[in-house]
Amino acid sequence: MKIKNICCIGAGYVGGPTMAVIAQKNPEINVTVVDLNKQRIAAWNDEDLSKLPVYEPGLDEVVKEARGRNLFFSTEVDRAIDEAEMVFISVNTPTKTYGEGKGMAADLKYVELCARQIARVSKGDKIVVEKSTLPVRTAQAVKSILDNTGNGFKFSILSNPEFLAEGTAVEDLQSPDRVLIGGEDTPEGKEAMQALVDIYASWVPKEQILTTNVWSSELSKLVANAFLAQRVSSINAISELCEATEADVDEVSRAIGKDSRIGPKFLKASVGFGGSCFQKDILNLVYISKSLGLNEVADYWEQVIIMNDYQKYRFAKKIITTLYNTIADKKIAFLGWAFKKDTNDTRESAAIYVAEHLLQEQAKIVVYDPKVTEEQIYSDLEYLGTLSSEDIMNRVTVVNDPYKAMDKAHAVAVLTEWDEFKSYDWDRVYENMMKPAFVFDGRRLLDEAEITEKGFKVYTIGK
Ligand code: UDX
Ligand code: ADP
Repeated sequence: MKIKNICCIGAGYVGGPTMAVIAQKNPEINVTVVDLNKQRIAAWNDEDLSKLPVYEPGLDEVVKEARGRNLFFSTEVDRAIDEAEMVFISVNTPTKTYGEGKGMAADLKYVELCARQIARVSKGDKIVVEKSTLPVRTAQAVKSILDNTGNGFKFSILSNPEFLAEGTAVEDLQSPDRVLIGGEDTPEGKEAMQALVDIYASWVPKEQILTTNVWSSELSKLVANAFLAQRVSSINAISELCEATEADVDEVSRAIGKDSRIGPKFLKASVGFGGSCFQKDILNLVYISKSLGLNEVADYWEQVIIMNDYQKYRFAKKIITTLYNTIADKKIAFLGWAFKKDTNDTRESAAIYVAEHLLQEQAKIVVYDPKVTEEQIYSDLEYLGTLSSEDIMNRVTVVNDPYKAMDKAHAVAVLTEWDEFKSYDWDRVYENMMKPAFVFDGRRLLDEAEITEKGFKVYTIGK
């Protein structure tokens, strides 16, 4: 089967970049990305490419090449579904904030709504591809909805988890380590898998396209993220041990990373991992394990989250104790709010939780981030539900000049590893700060010896 029209439901961090690259690499296929959010679609269609709703290096070039040719962004969801032979579901699946599985299970209401919508508007057979991160066995639920509420057409369900990391999405999509496609072991299932394999094969070497059964594919996504997050929590656990001894965690990382069985990546100690996937996926894994009565398995993985929460708390605590146990009304400058560099995404960013701890101690926080909007920062703090709106408005300021953020501050906290922070004029910063001037480097970004020389008192995580 040759696919001519693709529809992707959800124009977010996953759907947008993924479809842009699929369209770029398959000029003969029409790709329409739809979303209920009109503003988001308008931004994807903006002539000014700096206004795309997702910031990713290189994405503007890809969009420029394909948009209007075979890549379209639209709010006409029903029409795009109807016209496509293949529909990707790429909607958000946040952790549930209510009811059974609250704080753990994925909220599948958006996925279910999509399935019902596809069933309702389809006037022919379709391949439905799960792109959103989902708990194992969601495909089965989607299939059941489609089969029971549809108009008698055949639906094949594929799981095709996304492994792109934000900040490097375009690169990850253009040269992926692997593409994973899960499908049913039936003639229709195999045909559907082949149709999707053909799309990726336009630019991905065949041996890197893996096909599995649906459940293996769904589970592999959760397990990949759990393993990556576990590495970060493992090295973060060691960072505290290093601080209590004479060891330096970067040196330990380098030493163990040279062991080819361990490998050098994902061993960077930090103020804690963030992002939309790691915590959510591990919580999913924990929830599934618990539901199946596998308590030891659940506890094992839950510890990765506990360690991560502790690391954020430990960093905030370090700031408080170092500033003589009182930070009330002291100005603390935050460099960075995004959960990592080169993205404007702030979901689960460590900065949010560090800010929360400091605000509970009545600090004043001034934030500078090169890509995150003021609106987003306030909304992240409101969303926590633990701080009053009044406190947030009175105590948090967002500026677009880093020097202004640090002017008369008692301390600077580095929360994101944006490259530009390294090239600041630290002499000038020191001059204008309150003394003693402290820097808390949660990302091991700055050269500690260099800024200590300038007069700063520096705390570096894991040193
Ligand atoms: C992750 C997976 O990498 C990706 O494959 C999956 O599709 C989605 O989840 P992402 O969350 O975008 O991607 O970013 P990632 O680069 O994995 O970083 C996650 C968090 O871990 C960030 O907050 C990052 O700063 C932190 N991290 C990462 C560390 O603290 N140390 C490291 O060594 C690596
Ligand atoms: P991700 O990181 O998984 O891409 P995002 O939250 O960035 O998550 O994007 C998900 C998008 O899906 C949002 O823009 C949201 O408006 C959209 N969405 C959710 N449900 C539907 C739906 N039923 N129809 C169309 N779009 C939807």
